[in-house]
Amino acid sequence: MNSLKDKVVIITGAGAGIGRAAALRLAESEARVVVTGRRAEPLKVLVEGRTRLDFVVADAANPDDATRLIDTVIERWGRLDVLVNNAGAGAILPIEQASLAAIAEVFAVNVFGPSLLVKAAVPHLKATGGNIVNVSSTFGHKAAAALSHYAASKAALEHMTRCWALEFAKDRIRVNAVAAGPTETEFLRERMGLSEEQAESVKAQERRRIPLERRGLPDDVAAWIVLLASDVANWITGQVITVDGGLSIT
Ligand SMILES: NC(=O)c1ccc[n+]([C@@H]2O[C@H](COP(=O)([O-])OP(=O)(O)OC[C@H]3O[C@@H](n4cnc5c(N)ncnc54)[C@H](OP(=O)(O)O)[C@@H]3O)[C@@H](O)[C@H]2O)c1
Repeated sequence: MNSLKDKVVIITGAGAGIGRAAALRLAESEARVVVTGRRAEPLKVLVEGRTRLDFVVADAANPDDATRLIDTVIERWGRLDVLVNNAGAGAILPIEQASLAAIAEVFAVNVFGPSLLVKAAVPHLKATGGNIVNVSSTFGHKAAAALSHYAASKAALEHMTRCWALEFAKDRIRVNAVAAGPTETEFLRERMGLSEEQAESVKAQERRRIPLERRGLPDDVAAWIVLLASDVANWITGQVITVDGGLSIT
């Protein structure tokens, strides 16, 4: 049986990349999917003609948007079954160039935002016995030069995954994470702020370092988000599944 049929799912940061791929897969599984992002246009394009998809413009770094998003979804759909904290901020930030504002920006999206969204979602997830999937990175548990704050923010997200899994196990809410490796999205350009040339050079280095010799596709990662959200994973909680072509074991 398809355990996701008619489940109501929120995916943050789903106008492109991994979140978009997960939204499309979930809609194929007949879930009702609410996608978010800061810009309306890519979300409109994504939901157009797809009756199972809807969108709410919301910034994962804005605390007011967390409650507004959950309230809107409950008003519109009457329930919440799955929260996917996918929106992420990245920064190549050597410590000698770091400022409080730059560090806070990364943590606002990757740590504070998911925390407030989980807080607002939990009463509704308790009602449905729902679950949470957080999207982390290989660098949430593997060291990398000049990525200390991005990496530490994802390490925090991974550890919150384990702590929340314990905190909500009595409520039948499962909490897991997918840690993605380098994936073909606009993350290097748009989130890490690299030029086309710099991004291509990083991609070439990554291809050489990844044991399976390729960067991931959004769908490689999205498939595991969907599996963890589904009943296939109904005895899995507090786990971080790394989907990275083996990079984390090098
Ligand atoms: N791609 C990789 O190589 C990689 C590797 C490891 C982990 N990850 C993680 O995977 C997740 C998804 O990454 P991705 O590469 O698929 O992302 P992406 O393609 O760079 O962005 C996906 C969407 O997120 C939205 N977004 C960005 N900041 C947001 C915010 N503050 N609030 C709401 N939406 C926001 C963007 O739309 P707007 O600009 O309109 O908001 C965009 O459409 C992130 O958590 C990232 O850290 C990615």
